[in-house]
Amino acid sequence: MTRPRIVYRDDRVVVWHGDCRDVLPQLDETPLAAVTDPPYGETAAEWDRWPDGWVEALGEILPANASLWSFGSARMFLEHVTDFTGNGWKFAQEALWIKRNGSGPTGRDRLVKVHEWAYLWYRGLWSAGHHEWERDRVGGPPSARYARKDSRAAAHQRPGRATRWDDDGTRQPRSVTYVVEVPSVRGRGRHQDEKPLGVVMPLVRECAPPDGLVVDPMAGTGTTAVAAILTGRRAVVIERDAQLCRVIVDRVTENTVDAHTRG
Ligand SMILES: C[S@@+](CC[C@H](N)C(=O)[O-])C[C@H]1O[C@@H](n2cnc3c(N)ncnc32)[C@H](O)[C@@H]1O
Repeated sequence: MTRPRIVYRDDRVVVWHGDCRDVLPQLDETPLAAVTDPPYGETAAEWDRWPDGWVEALGEILPANASLWSFGSARMFLEHVTDFTGNGWKFAQEALWIKRNGSGPTGRDRLVKVHEWAYLWYRGLWSAGHHEWERDRVGGPPSARYARKDSRAAAHQRPGRATRWDDDGTRQPRSVTYVVEVPSVRGRGRHQDEKPLGVVMPLVRECAPPDGLVVDPMAGTGTTAVAAILTGRRAVVIERDAQLCRVIVDRVTENTVDAHTRG
């Protein structure tokens, strides 16, 4: 068994090497929320084994009104749903990422899988958690589009339920993200299941305020840590594979330097 240890620490990111179930009780600061991508347990890959008890270990250290974003397949969530509901997590909503290339098991007896789910779980009061979405820009510059509009009550609404809304050239993001590739993976051999920053950054922003701490207990290549740096949040990430911990430290260092240069 690997003795858990911190392999990197700066003012935004802490990287632990070890099994998350051993590390989580040792964290010296309580994260507000978790963003993670566990093994789905759907392939023969050595890393792809669901670690029993991780949801419970996480639940024990997160505060009462916390959020948990977890990537996963429908099959994975159906198989492990009681790990979530049995530990007080309520399902809020899902985000769907459609990609160009397929992943997962292949064969003529199945569809090529070109999508990934991220499920948002919360506990306590929804209104007590942090929920923030950066709005999408639509159309031209806001000043050209800005207008107050009356919308008529839709057929399913009661008469008189019409609302007024401000068209400022933005709209609430949709639950489906199309084709955000992971260019860094190809040729670099980092991790076959690395998630794109463009998909993970909105999830980190959604569940933690600026400077808020998120935890990723199964960090892989550290996408959550980089997403935290790029969105002005902080992260503590845990990975049990030593080689991947080195990848995380390299990515974090690279992006910390970039963030300072940009800032
Ligand atoms: C699907 S990958 C995460 C990929 C990540 N989202 C990324 O963008 O690179 C899951 C990771 O969880 C790690 N893992 C599995 N069980 C673990 C455990 N008990 N504690 C810590 N890490 C674990 C695996 O080594 C693997 O790297």
